[in-house]
Formats: sequence, structure tokens, C-alpha cells
Amino acid sequence: MDTIHIHGGQRLSGRIPISGAKNAALTLLPCALLTDEELILGNLPRLADVDTFGHLLNQLGVTTSVAGARGNEFGRRMTLSAARITSTVAPYDIVRKMRASILVLGPLLARSGEATVSLPGGCAIGTRPVDLHLKALEALGAEIEMTAGYVKARAPDGGLTGGQISFPIVSVGATENALMAAVLAKGRSEIVNAAREPEIVDLCRLLVAMGASIEGIGTDHLVIEGRDRLHGARYDVMPDRIEAGSYACAAAITGGEIDLMGAKAAEMPAILHALRDAGVAVTEHDRGIRVAADGRLKPLTLSTAPHPAFPTDMQAQFMAMLCLGDGASLLTETIFENRYMHVPELVRMGADVEITGRSAVVRGVDQLVGAPVMATDLRASMSLVLAGLAARGETVVSRVYHLDRGYERLEEKLSAVGAAIERRSDG
Ligand code: UD1
Repeated sequence: MDTIHIHGGQRLSGRIPISGAKNAALTLLPCALLTDEELILGNLPRLADVDTFGHLLNQLGVTTSVAGARGNEFGRRMTLSAARITSTVAPYDIVRKMRASILVLGPLLARSGEATVSLPGGCAIGTRPVDLHLKALEALGAEIEMTAGYVKARAPDGGLTGGQISFPIVSVGATENALMAAVLAKGRSEIVNAAREPEIVDLCRLLVAMGASIEGIGTDHLVIEGRDRLHGARYDVMPDRIEAGSYACAAAITGGEIDLMGAKAAEMPAILHALRDAGVAVTEHDRGIRVAADGRLKPLTLSTAPHPAFPTDMQAQFMAMLCLGDGASLLTETIFENRYMHVPELVRMGADVEITGRSAVVRGVDQLVGAPVMATDLRASMSLVLAGLAARGETVVSRVYHLDRGYERLEEKLSAVGAAIERRSDG
């Protein structure tokens, strides 16, 4: 299995191109199921999860072809065609690899009138139920049955009908499934307390490009007028705000200066705000965002919450950074119950972190020390890479497949700005 080896202590400087957003790509891809015409998605990141999603769609009868995007060595373009859906079953062996598979439920049901999707189960960061996805589809008339670990959803004769969906808590995935189903339902649907993440805005924009009618885009109240059919479209995936935020932390933790090329400041207000509070200089320019750090970072008090507040997907990376802060920081995780698996590993590198319930007190230390480490999820793995970039000596990160799910050519991008990092295949 591959490992990533880092010799810490280099000050990073230069440009990093920001890839298309994983979390946007994984909700734009299932939109191919909503039309019998071609969907062409550009700026797709080269990531294991995007490939896995392509394979899932292939099993449902969607044809996919991939080309490198011209003028951009990182992104690529996928042409998807669901002229005919040949299966409405998303099997366990794919869903267990990638929770986002649940996002075929809404579009399959809307287009084919039925869908059978394996329950994703829990994962390293928490139990992660899907009850809100199912309630939303029921509000559109679906009948749902649970059998042998599968969700079986059926639309009434004549298809889904518009309905009122009111979420008790904000859910990104459930909002996405509800939207993808409502655009083909008969009549008007309302989604109240919808998630407002930029990836939801990206999804709405693609759906509108395919002929959907959606009002309130970017707010927590979406109104959808269902259409009989949607048509094909060409669309480019938005830049990855979490990747951009992660590399901003890399600049900050090494006292460096990085231009995040293609990143959009308007999509990451809480991340940039927190960086500024920590004493990092953040400047927007016409091609992206520059972050520059000098000296010790100031401690922060941060709590994760749905957009536009501070994202749970940045908690681990900020923690790594604050391990070297000048004082004590307080981080609180409100989205997932078990998203601190990076803590014991950071502590092994010399960090001083104490967890009490959903909060973590991070007391800044003068130095981290390289160590062999591993993490159990994507963002936690990135926090260990960041710690390794600043630590004295060598850090070896194993279970690299987590990083490959969400960071396109991580070691290439970091070496280009001066990091001593390499991937080794140890057989
Ligand atoms: C969540 C994050 C998203 C992040 C992704 C991957 C939020 C609001 N969502 O999205 O930013 O990119 O993880 O780390 O920050 N829930 C239920 N029932 C459901 C669905 C969700 O109780 O049917 C709960 C979850 O357990 C969680 C909360 O709602 O506590 C938000 O989850 P949700 O937004 O649905 O999760 P993801 O879509 O995976």
C-alpha cells in the first residue's frame, strides 16, 4: 500500500491550482440520470470517488466517456448519457465504498419511478443516518420500504408529485436528493430549511441549465416547479473550497505564502475569516486568493455548523494548524459525533489536545515531531499531512487511499510549492 513521506520544516511558497470540488462533482454526476440527453461535466477532479461514481452510473445503464480538459492538466471532462436506464439498483458493494451513492436515489426515483439503494451504514466519523432523505422523498409521494439493508422507493402511478419538505435540521445530502427528485415531480415543491452550501448552489445551477425551474437559489427556502422532462447541458464543476482551505492551512502552518489559483473567496467566507483571525494575511486577486503567514498563529475559538458558518470539513485541518498556535484554541464539532480521530495521531506528533464531549482544547506547542501516522477519514488524513509539513523530521502517512478520495495529486501540488513530500509504493 502507498505511503506519503514528508520531511517537515520547509516554508511553502508559490501557486497551487485548485481542482473541481469533490462534493459538488458527486452531486452533479447523478443529474445525468434525470435526462435522456447528454450531460457534459467539465473541471471534474481526478479522484477515486469520481471514478467510483462513474462505475455506479455505468451499472445503472449510463454511458460515460472521459477526456482530459484542454489547457488544464488537472481537470477532466466526462460525457454522460442515460438514454436508457437499465437498472434501478445501487448495490451494497459500491455504496459501502462511497456514501455519496445514496444521491442516485432521488434522480432514479424521479426518472424511472423506482429505486433500490443499499443503505450506506455508519462510517468512521459517525452514524450518518439517511432518514431525512427518505422523509423528503415521501413528501413527494414516494412509498419507501426497507428490506435486507436496502431502501426500496417507488413513485405512485403517474410519478412523483410536488410537496412540502421541511427539514428539522440542515442536511446537505437530503437537500440534494430532494432537489433532484422535485425537479421532475408534477407541480410545485418547497424545501424549507434547505442546506445553503455552495455545492447546493452548483447543483441548482446545473439543474437550471438542464431546464429546471428553481427559485431561492442560495437561500434556505427553495421553490421548485416540476418539469415533465429535463434536457442535456454542459457545465463546469465549481472550485473545491475545502481543497483551497486545506492548502491555505499549509501556507499558514509553514509560515509560507501560497496563491490558491481559481479559488473563490465568496464561497469560503468562514474559512477566510478564521484564517484572518489567526493572523494570516488573505488577499483576493483576479485569479484566486493569496494567503501569507509570518510568525506564530493566534489561537481561535471555532464551532462547525452548516454554511455559511465554519465547515466540518475544515475542522481537522485547522486543528493541525492551531497545534502550533500561540495559546489555547477551542474547537467544537456540531455536525458529526465522532470527528476527532486525528487527535490521537496529532498527540503522537507532540500536539497538546484534550477532548471533552464535542469540544477539543488545543494548546499550542513550540514544535511538532514527525512520526508514522494514519487516519480513518479524508480530512483527518489531510490534517496529518499538514502537521507533517511543519514537524521536525519525517512523517509517514499511511492509508493514503483516504487522501486519494479527495485531494487530486496532493504530493505533486505540495512539492511544486517547496514541500519535501513523496509517495512511495511499498508493495
Ligand atoms: C456533511 C456536511 C458537509 C460535508 C459532508 C462530508 C453539513 C451540514 N454537512 O454532509 O458539509 O461536506 O458531511 O463531510 O455540514 N442527518 C440525519 N439524517 C439524515 C441526514 C443527515 O440525522 O437523513 C444528520 C447527520 O447525522 C449530521 C447532519 O444531519 O449530523 C448533517 O448531515 P448531512 O449534511 O446530511 O451530511 P452530508 O450530506 O454527508
